[in-house]
Amino acid sequence: MNIIHLSAECYPAAKAGGLGDVVGALPKYLNQMGEHCEVIIPKYQTKWIDSQEYDIVWEANAPLGADYFHYKILKEKNDILGFPLYVVEIPGRFDRPGIYIDPWSGHGYWDEFERSLSFQIAALEYINGREGIPDVIHCHDHQTGLIPFMTSQSYRYSALKEVPTVITVHNAEYHGEHEMGKRFLLPEYDHSQTGLLEWNGKLNSLAAGLKCAWQISTVSQSYMGELAYNSNGLEFMFELEKGKSRGIVNGIDSEVWNPKTDPLVSVNYGLRDLIKGKRANKEILCKQFDLDPDIPTIAFIGRLVKEKGADLLPDLIRSFLYGEEQVNFVLLGTGDPALHAIFEEMDNEHVGYFDATLEYNEQLAHQMYAGADFMLMPSRVEPCGLNQLYAMRYGTIPIVRSVGGLKDTVKDLSEEEGYGIRFDDFTLEAAKNAVSRAISLHSDSKSHKEVMRRIVKLDFSWGSSAKEYIKMYNDIIK
Ligand code: GLC
Repeated sequence: MNIIHLSAECYPAAKAGGLGDVVGALPKYLNQMGEHCEVIIPKYQTKWIDSQEYDIVWEANAPLGADYFHYKILKEKNDILGFPLYVVEIPGRFDRPGIYIDPWSGHGYWDEFERSLSFQIAALEYINGREGIPDVIHCHDHQTGLIPFMTSQSYRYSALKEVPTVITVHNAEYHGEHEMGKRFLLPEYDHSQTGLLEWNGKLNSLAAGLKCAWQISTVSQSYMGELAYNSNGLEFMFELEKGKSRGIVNGIDSEVWNPKTDPLVSVNYGLRDLIKGKRANKEILCKQFDLDPDIPTIAFIGRLVKEKGADLLPDLIRSFLYGEEQVNFVLLGTGDPALHAIFEEMDNEHVGYFDATLEYNEQLAHQMYAGADFMLMPSRVEPCGLNQLYAMRYGTIPIVRSVGGLKDTVKDLSEEEGYGIRFDDFTLEAAKNAVSRAISLHSDSKSHKEVMRRIVKLDFSWGSSAKEYIKMYNDIIK
């Protein structure tokens, strides 16, 4: 099957979060299973994108409302990612360093809609213009949500009308919502169909994708169910579209995320030297932040936003740092400026027990997976969550709230063959109780080691999920 993935992110070319990881890995695994996947993303000014070699495979003008813009499609020369990667060059729109946010101002770009739409149009112009028609067009999140609308409604792409489209929802918090007037920027379509673009009086890119795609998928089964009562205003839509929706849990790229070979961890280790390897990495991690490596060390890695439950962390961490139990917390991430200020203050207040690194740092993230004892994820919403899967592969025990993909991938220690710590309620009490359970597990060295050995043996690689994607593609092609 020929499958084209369209996305705003693809690791290592451009990554802001888990979407990048998935789009950088799933196509590679599908190709290893005999499919033919290609990936198209915008040509941002990232270090990785700037340092590759490309062939220009297409160059033209395309309409954006009454205007035309010039674009080029460049193909990375050597397929080094395990699939052909195309980057769409649109001068004046993507020759900027930020994926979504302008790093200088900290805000989104003023022309978010024009930027995103011109990418989607250029990609479709190329798919429509080149030889051959794909079997499936696979879109990801709101940034490519207008594609299923355009292939089904725009006269310009009528040759693609019969190509099945899939939209995968990685995060339904963001919708790509704009004034309805922006619809005039789309390539000509039958205006009696404008309703397909609309949700609550706005042009809603995710809603348009959900309505027009042949198939909806979400990145875990539980998240699929949760969307019908918690999706930032799209609940009714998810309820309506249940019939064409399914949940497929993400996998991880076990070649990138392998403690045996990971070049970003200080000491490589495998199952045989797991305990020794983790201890060595813990000592290095703790030394970096002046922490005592003999006490349990709990990490948080992620965006400092409400969705991830980051606003629960200050009180939770303080309650332990002022309490009797001895524990270290290390935190890595960026997000809400108000939380940055709080963590900076705590950083000064609790030297020796707490450290916050408020930046995006892939290297430190890997060292934390290798060196921490526990990975804390108190998410309010978690479509799938990849950090718990990375953590487990590195022998780091997850402490998670029972929600979305966290619920689907972490089995509580109290269950048979359980291997993680789960809590249900989004409350300080419930989170404190979960952290206390972690501390007591750590004090029981034998059980702690047993659980570590159990989690590194679990298989969360893409194998079985990629098979489910193939089944889904086959089902819609039929
Ligand atoms: C988003 C979600 C996360 C998911 C990832 C990849 O970042 O928040 O839960 O794992 O997408 O699908």
